[in-house]
Amino acid sequence: SIEGEENLRSPICCIMGHVDSGKTKLLDCIRGTNVQEGEAGGITQQIGATYFPAENIRERTRELKADARLKVPGLLVIDTPGHESFTNLRSRGSSLCDLAILVVDIKAGLQPQTIESLNLLRMRNTEFIIALNKVDRLYGWQTCKNAPIVKSLKQQPKDVISEFNVELKKVKNQFQEQGLNTELYYKNKEMGETFSIVPTSAVSGEGVPDLLLLLVQWAQKTMVEKLTYVDEVQCTVLEVKVIEGHGTTIDVVLVNGELHEGDKIVVCGLQGPIVTTIRALLTPHPMKELRVKGTYLHYKEIKAAQGIKITAQGLEHAIAGTALHVVGPDDDLEAIKESVMED
Ligand code: GTP
Ligand code: MG
Ligand code: NA
Repeated sequence: SIEGEENLRSPICCIMGHVDSGKTKLLDCIRGTNVQEGEAGGITQQIGATYFPAENIRERTRELKADARLKVPGLLVIDTPGHESFTNLRSRGSSLCDLAILVVDIKAGLQPQTIESLNLLRMRNTEFIIALNKVDRLYGWQTCKNAPIVKSLKQQPKDVISEFNVELKKVKNQFQEQGLNTELYYKNKEMGETFSIVPTSAVSGEGVPDLLLLLVQWAQKTMVEKLTYVDEVQCTVLEVKVIEGHGTTIDVVLVNGELHEGDKIVVCGLQGPIVTTIRALLTPHPMKELRVKGTYLHYKEIKAAQGIKITAQGLEHAIAGTALHVVGPDDDLEAIKESVMED
């Protein structure tokens, strides 16, 4: 079809895996940020969201494929914690996404929360790609900064390739034990049946172009229906936070539809439904993490998919993980208030 004919929204991709497999570091590598180093104990404790515009993805994947056609406006990536105590946040993240990246530490292989994440994704029939991360930790690895992975592998000494193959085989066997066929993505002839593995390093950026391009191309090729923009608002509250100068705010993921300053909204609250009006719609700058304090861009209106900070009165008792509803001119407010509390 002709470019522009399809009205696609940005795919929402959740990044999941065991604690310290490198999820946040991979996002830092793509963003050019240092979020991971600022985390208490190096542990992610909240769901995050980062918007990557298509132009940045094109830039990052140029060496891999110069003429890649990106039909989506961008990619919204949801970061999740891997620590065992945050199962609820992994579940919330995975319930929002169109597809996912499952991060596996190449030296550690499958770990308890890798398997838990895998099962959450399978439960919802969510497609995912495996990032086999920390390849730079293979003994003797020759770094080739930000290179496509095939180029980088070609430069490795023989014994590094042997070690890589041993670790790869181990991980493939562990996935097989979970009932999954896996293969290096560039050898995978049956995506959808066999899960693709992209070797990556969040430190050197190797394999990151491959990961980005595979995600976007796969999403826009196989999920056109799911990604076709619809007006009906679908929006979930991620976090409730007090922000200096803004009072209590909610971080939301807008999956579909459009929000406007001044919209009347209803969210689920501890003491009953909260009916309020959007005072401000804020986002971090593109390629910046929503959960990290920074400067915000203000919008009069904003279209899905996006991670957004909403300021409004009366949000103190809002409950994370529940749906946000917009009250239209013809809507029955009482009915919406009831349905909001069913979450
Ligand atoms: P949680 O969110 O707490 O579950 O962890 P995470 O999966 O986000 O991992 P994180 O990004 O916090 O990385 C954990 C540690 O591994 C940090 O010290 C990173 O610097 C390191 N690390 C992550 N990716 C790589 C990589 O590709 N190579 C190397 N050498 N170290 C990495
Ligand atoms: Mg993290
Ligand atoms: Na960590």
